[in-house]
Amino acid sequence: MSGIIPKDNSFLDCEKAGLYKAIFLRRDVRSQFDTREIPGYVLDRILRAAHHAPSVGYSQPWDFILIKDYATRTLVKKSFIRERAKSISLLQEDTERQKLYIRLKLEGILESAINICVTYDPTRFGPFVLGRTSISDAGIYSVCCAIQNLWLAARVEGIGIGWVSIISISDLRRILSLPDHVVPIAYLCAGYVSQFSSNPDLEKAGWLERMSLQDVIHYEKWHGQRSDIQEDIHIANRH
Ligand SMILES: Cc1cc2nc3c(=O)[nH]c(=O)nc-3n(C[C@H](O)[C@H](O)[C@H](O)COP(=O)(O)O)c2cc1C
Repeated sequence: MSGIIPKDNSFLDCEKAGLYKAIFLRRDVRSQFDTREIPGYVLDRILRAAHHAPSVGYSQPWDFILIKDYATRTLVKKSFIRERAKSISLLQEDTERQKLYIRLKLEGILESAINICVTYDPTRFGPFVLGRTSISDAGIYSVCCAIQNLWLAARVEGIGIGWVSIISISDLRRILSLPDHVVPIAYLCAGYVSQFSSNPDLEKAGWLERMSLQDVIHYEKWHGQRSDIQEDIHIANRH
C-alpha cells in the first residue's frame, strides 16, 4: 500500500468520493442474497480491513469465526426464531407495531454465503490494556470499529452484510463452543446480493426514519446554545 500513499498523506477527490460513496451506500442486508460463493481472496481483503480497525491500547481484541456449515447455521436460526417470538410478545400492547414487526425480514442466516461471528476477547494482551482502565467497554467499542470496517469493505466488494442481534448470547456460546471469557459481539450474514436498497429496510417498512443531523449535534454542552461551530456547519452545508 505504501507505494500509492502520497507524501502529504492526502486523498485525491475521487478517493474521498469513494469512501463517502461506500458509507452512504452501505446497507444492512437481510434478503436479496444470491448463491455466489465469496472467493477466498475477497474474504481475506474484507477481514484484513476489519483487522486494521482502531483498538483500545492496540489490543486487537477481535476474532472472526467463519461459519459455512448448514447444521450450525440451522441451530443459530432456531435461536433467532425463539428470540424473535420473545420480541413479538413484548409488543403485545402495541398491535400495529407488532403486526409490522412480524412482517419484517430480520436475518439471512441460511440464505447468505457465509456467516461470521465477531467476538471480543477481554483477556488479550491483558490484564492491563492501555486506555481501558477507566472505561472497560472500550474493548467492545474496538470490536465494533472492526465490524464497521468489515461492513464498508464488504460493500465496496458488492457483498451485503446483515447484522443479526436477535439471537441469545448463551445459544451462540454453546453452538460455537466459545470459551467462557470470549464474548460474541456480532453475528453477521454475508454474501453477494442482487441489489442494495437505496434506503434502510426499516425506513422503507415505515418503522423509523433517519433523524436530521441537526437534531443530534450539540454545541459545547448537552442542548447548548447556538455557537460559532454551528455557524461554520451551516456555511459548509451551503457549499
Ligand atoms: C448492533 C446492531 C444490531 C442489529 N441487529 C439487527 C437485527 O437483528 N436484524 C436486522 O434485521 N437488522 C439489524 N441491524 C441492522 C439495523 O436495523 C440497520 O443498520 C438500520 O436499520 C439502518 O439500516 P442500514 O444499516 O441499511 O443503514 C443491526 C444493526 C446494528 C448496528
